[in-house]
Amino acid sequence: MSKSIDHSGLTFRRDYFGHRKAWGALVDLLKDTFDIDIGPLQQLGGPDPSSMPFGWFACDGRLAANLSAFAMPLMINGRTVNAAAFQSGAVRPAWRGRGLYRDLTQKALAWCQEKGFEAIVLYTDKPALYEPYGFRALPLHAYSGNAPAALKVRTPVRRLNPLEPADLKLLSTALKARAPVSAALAVRASAAMFLINTQLDPGVRISWLERERIAVAWKMEAPGHFKLLDVVCADIPSLASIIGALNIDVEAVDVLFCPDKLGWSGQAKSLDSYTQFMIRAPGTIAFDRPAMLSPMADF
Ligand SMILES: CC(C)(COP(=O)(O)OP(=O)(O)OC[C@H]1O[C@@H](n2cnc3c(N)ncnc32)[C@H](O)[C@@H]1OP(=O)(O)O)[C@@H](O)C(=O)NCCC(=O)NCCS
Repeated sequence: MSKSIDHSGLTFRRDYFGHRKAWGALVDLLKDTFDIDIGPLQQLGGPDPSSMPFGWFACDGRLAANLSAFAMPLMINGRTVNAAAFQSGAVRPAWRGRGLYRDLTQKALAWCQEKGFEAIVLYTDKPALYEPYGFRALPLHAYSGNAPAALKVRTPVRRLNPLEPADLKLLSTALKARAPVSAALAVRASAAMFLINTQLDPGVRISWLERERIAVAWKMEAPGHFKLLDVVCADIPSLASIIGALNIDVEAVDVLFCPDKLGWSGQAKSLDSYTQFMIRAPGTIAFDRPAMLSPMADF
């Protein structure tokens, strides 16, 4: 028997990102629900062009419930997977328990099937919400270890500000031509996620290696403790040359993706996170090696 939905007083809309007020209603829903501001995305080239939002709107223009899907091609175990991702799933408290989220989940799943995606991924702190639809949690691992001896590279390096049009252009071009940062698990593109993530964590620095045309997303956790979040370029350089180019004193390193292309091997450590990474795919998927998606791909 199909379960009921109560959408009285609400209007369903999909594909509404082109409408300024409706986009603003999503920004408000995500601020109110998750305390995340995706408003700056509009200055950063806009949402992912493949996005397909599904929403129930109240008559005052507020978004009561939403779930968005978008194409997120992934590299998993050395193979390109034509994946979609779900994001921005939320229902305002006054409208919860009426079946609105179940309805949006079914609509988003139907869209993914129609588009022929091989897999769907999401992050959630409520895995039970998605298990009935065949999503399974995959363990994520970061890598830690001693810093390699820096390979001194004399290259002009400067910090990029993605909100500056010239820097945004550089970064967007690099993101279009990027190689997956790991063969184990990485995004193939997803420029919009990278760009908004530069704004969501003020501790992230984006350094531009001028000559090599490489963007490095990194943090200094404490003096001497380097965290590498992502490397955007066509040919991934070694960790030793990244540290050398940044010209920083580093003793300990955390790499927040599988470092198979970095010429360095740390120790895999289970990622401490309140959310789980889930995947829905026809067969069973397990990573060949411990892995995680770069935080710059968070969605
Ligand atoms: C979680 C949330 C989206 C549920 O919305 P909702 O409109 O109340 O959900 P529905 O009434 O459509 O219920 C859908 C199903 O989810 C189940 N469910 C609802 N809340 C749940 C929760 N916190 N954990 C697990 N399952 C839940 C319901 O029992 C129902 O199951 P059924 O289909 O077997 O009947 C909503 O509470 C919310 O926005 N929470 C805050 C943000 C959030 O957690 N977003 C989703 C995580 S990515």
